[in-house]
Amino acid sequence: MAIPGVGNCEMGLVGLGVMGRNLVLNLTDKGFPVAVYNRTPERTREFMEREVTWQNIRPGYTLEEFVGLLRRPRAILILVTAGSPMDAVIEELLPLLGPRDLIIDGGNSHFIDTSRRSRLLAEKGLLFMGLGISGGEQGARHGPSLMPGGSPEAYARVQTLLEAIAAQKDGKPCVAYLGNGSCGHYVKMVHNGIEYGLMQLLAETYDFMKRGLGLTAPDLAAVYEGWNHTELHSYLVEITAKIFRRQDEATGQPLVELILDQAKQKGTGMWTSWDAMDLQSPTPVIDVAVGMRDLSGYKVQREEAAQVLPGPPARYHGAPGAIITHLQRALYAAMVITYAQGLALLSRASRAYRYDLNLEAVVRVWRAGCIIRAAVLEDIRGAYQTQPGLPNLLLDPRLGKEILARQNDLRAVASLAAHQGLPVPAFMAALAYFDAYRSPVLPANLTQAQRDFFGAHTYERVDMPGVFHTEWEEE
Ligand code: 6PG
Repeated sequence: MAIPGVGNCEMGLVGLGVMGRNLVLNLTDKGFPVAVYNRTPERTREFMEREVTWQNIRPGYTLEEFVGLLRRPRAILILVTAGSPMDAVIEELLPLLGPRDLIIDGGNSHFIDTSRRSRLLAEKGLLFMGLGISGGEQGARHGPSLMPGGSPEAYARVQTLLEAIAAQKDGKPCVAYLGNGSCGHYVKMVHNGIEYGLMQLLAETYDFMKRGLGLTAPDLAAVYEGWNHTELHSYLVEITAKIFRRQDEATGQPLVELILDQAKQKGTGMWTSWDAMDLQSPTPVIDVAVGMRDLSGYKVQREEAAQVLPGPPARYHGAPGAIITHLQRALYAAMVITYAQGLALLSRASRAYRYDLNLEAVVRVWRAGCIIRAAVLEDIRGAYQTQPGLPNLLLDPRLGKEILARQNDLRAVASLAAHQGLPVPAFMAALAYFDAYRSPVLPANLTQAQRDFFGAHTYERVDMPGVFHTEWEEE
């Protein structure tokens, strides 16, 4: 393959971390000449020596040299840590760029930052795209799911290239123009919120089967492998099975059992919950997933509490087979409810932030390449195709029926877990959301009465129009 000359590279990539390196290789595999730059030139040198003697890649050891390698108008994809490192790179690039050059932020940036950067770059006559990228290292290398947002002009500039490197599903690329401004990063944030919810649900099934049913790691691997051949078929179930198969080389024990039970986070799940609260679009499964990662961090307190707060024996002594079937069916229902919460938030955000989102396109993009890819997304896509304005997936006749058919499994899991003292807050949150959502009457009238009692906040009545206040305390 010819080495691209100065001014010939179709894309420039800043940030040769693992995602950046893999995306460069993906781009060059598809025939796009790429220029690369990293803040520390050693990393660029190392990358060039290791990977690319034959590849269609040119290194820039200074930003000036790097920018000079790019075809005009330029397109630069930045993959550095979200927050101030992203601002720093943009600031350094600005004096080197010209009209209609395009900067693409491919990190997990907060959408408010993306809106701010869009405005800043638009004022300077540049184009900007916030690009959500999902699929981890392997996705970046072989086909990620891509969630671009920004101006249609920005998308048109890189559409061919993004379509070429994205994951493919049924011959279609997992990328679509999603909407203006920070839309792409917003969709990626909610993707991650859903990711947190699904991961928490899976963690709860593990705990239930391990402590409640006494299953060992090989047993668990077999259960998750089996589940992955059912309606639960998904990336997260697949990797969970693989995790339970992996043994620690040093001890021969299942590696997962040697990992400290404290979950870390970079914040995208928490941002989803924040914004869901802000927009008053409830996402309780995601909220609980964030909270459980936080609670897992209180290891010392948990160990102390275990000594003084005994509960019932965790071990269930009935036949495990029926319980595992309940868990499998409940997991499907809770997964759909988690997607429903995330997508309802997207629909609300689309109105609030004027993204004009097409939820069918969002789901289409999630069907391959990303962390939350799952067989059920095909049905979810179908739901939005039939009814683009669907306010909540639970109202889709087909998915609603599937959840109804499994509501007793959800109830069995929640009640058995409560009985055995096993924490399954994400399952419980999914069930409570389902029960509240399908309830024509909620006790919010009492909440209103209390607000009016102590704060004269007024209330409305069911039997007459108007706004009312009562002096509740009898003299
Ligand atoms: C993806 C992932 C990816 C990353 C998350 C992990 O879609 O490829 O979501 O973006 O793994 O940032 O987030 P936490 O560190 O918060 O778990």
